Amino acid sequence: MALSAAIILAAGEGTRMRSSKPKVLHSLAGKTFLERVMSSVSALEPNTLAVVVHHQAELVAEAARSYDGHVTIVNQDDIPGTGRAVQCAMRQLGEAGKLEGPVLIAASDMPLLDTATLKALLDFHDASGDDATVLTTNLDDPTGYGRIIRERDGGVLRIVEQKDANSSELAVHEVNTSVYVFDAAVLARAIEGLDSKNAQGEFYLTDALETAHANGKVGAFTASDALSVEGVNDRVQLSNLARAHNRRVCEAWMRAGVTIPDPGTTWIDDDVEIEQDVTILPGCFLQGGTVIAHDAVVGPYTTLIDVRVDAGASVERSRVQQSHIGAGATIGPWTYIRQGNELGESTKAGAFVEMKKARIGKGTKVPHLSYVGDTELGENSNVGGGTITANYDGVHKNRTRIGSNVHVGAGNLFVAPVEVGDDVTTGAGSVIRHAVPDGSMVYSENTQHVVEGWKPEWER
Ligand code: UD1
Ligand code: CA
Repeated sequence: MALSAAIILAAGEGTRMRSSKPKVLHSLAGKTFLERVMSSVSALEPNTLAVVVHHQAELVAEAARSYDGHVTIVNQDDIPGTGRAVQCAMRQLGEAGKLEGPVLIAASDMPLLDTATLKALLDFHDASGDDATVLTTNLDDPTGYGRIIRERDGGVLRIVEQKDANSSELAVHEVNTSVYVFDAAVLARAIEGLDSKNAQGEFYLTDALETAHANGKVGAFTASDALSVEGVNDRVQLSNLARAHNRRVCEAWMRAGVTIPDPGTTWIDDDVEIEQDVTILPGCFLQGGTVIAHDAVVGPYTTLIDVRVDAGASVERSRVQQSHIGAGATIGPWTYIRQGNELGESTKAGAFVEMKKARIGKGTKVPHLSYVGDTELGENSNVGGGTITANYDGVHKNRTRIGSNVHVGAGNLFVAPVEVGDDVTTGAGSVIRHAVPDGSMVYSENTQHVVEGWKPEWER
């Protein structure tokens, strides 16, 4: 059955994170909690996707709009509580048109909530014919969660928050995940009677289930994957969840044919793609839309952000971002490849080399201690150690063009804009300020002066 609306709760402050940033804008594996939950929920294609905001409302709303341009933003008023959040949402959605059929509600502090779990919940709700269904999980340590109090026949009687629970209720291990499906009419009625007579003085959404139960039937569906419904309230929980998730991601890649000797120090974002027979050595961060082709070796200690690595390339102890590394290229150790570089097949960027917006032709090598920025280098050229392209005149970034089969001597300085042809050899220490034609040798004089028998003043 089509979802009439989905309501994502994102108005809380997330006090336990102790952060100036709202909790739902913290990230796991490269995406904010809010983005993750919104994308899992919107895959169910609800007629309306609403996000409730209050704490740092504009910041959270702006993020929500950036993830989904069609999102409906609901502003919760100053009255606190998950129940109040849903009251505000239902009021606004009701004004926009009559709601009929199932409404999904989800907290946004559960970064691994996935579409499969939500679909299973909806199917269960549909099949049971219940008025409301709560998604639950069983935890060894249920501390902090609301406990599910069931009736003899298995139906849900109510949910008791940790702070309001007695000792027998605290002994229950089945907990509320903060994901629910309600029939719209039942929900509208159930939230009207909420009050704040509880330990936290808040409008609890969980109390709506007790009302729904009094007028009809409430069921519970247990998530098959406990990680998918784990909530994050503080940074210890975030770290534990991120580690567990990353372990899964690494194991999936290992099963797909990727060698990862130490998944504990190998962090791979969800959208990364890796082909068979790639090796990812310890201490690596593969982020954003990074794509790694077969037989490449990455690491140890390497960060790749939105990088395309072609077959057989190797990147060691380096940071590379928004660039393309050609087949068989070797990068590192200690190399910084900034944005916008195209390194061709079998190229090399060695130790202490920095590149930015450089296009390096097939077989060309920049082996040591160089800065190559806003530069085109042809094929099979070699750049001597300590060479710098001076691309910035204080106002503009200027380009350097160096041809193919060029042998750049050590310690050259290319003062851009400047062009050097093919088959050129440059002398060590040259300062190249003007165009150099094909097939020539260029050097610039720097006179060597020797003062024999010289001693510093203090020794004289
Ligand atoms: C809530 C549930 C608890 C459940 C747990 C699962 C209630 C009363 N308790 O407790 O049963 O086991 O989640 O993680 O619902 N929010 C708002 N407006 C508010 C307060 C919160 O939108 O005024 C949002 C938060 O941004 C968050 C979600 O609701 O995304 C849950 O809030 P949180 O304070 O984390 O609730 P818990 O104490 O964890
Ligand atoms: Ca929570």
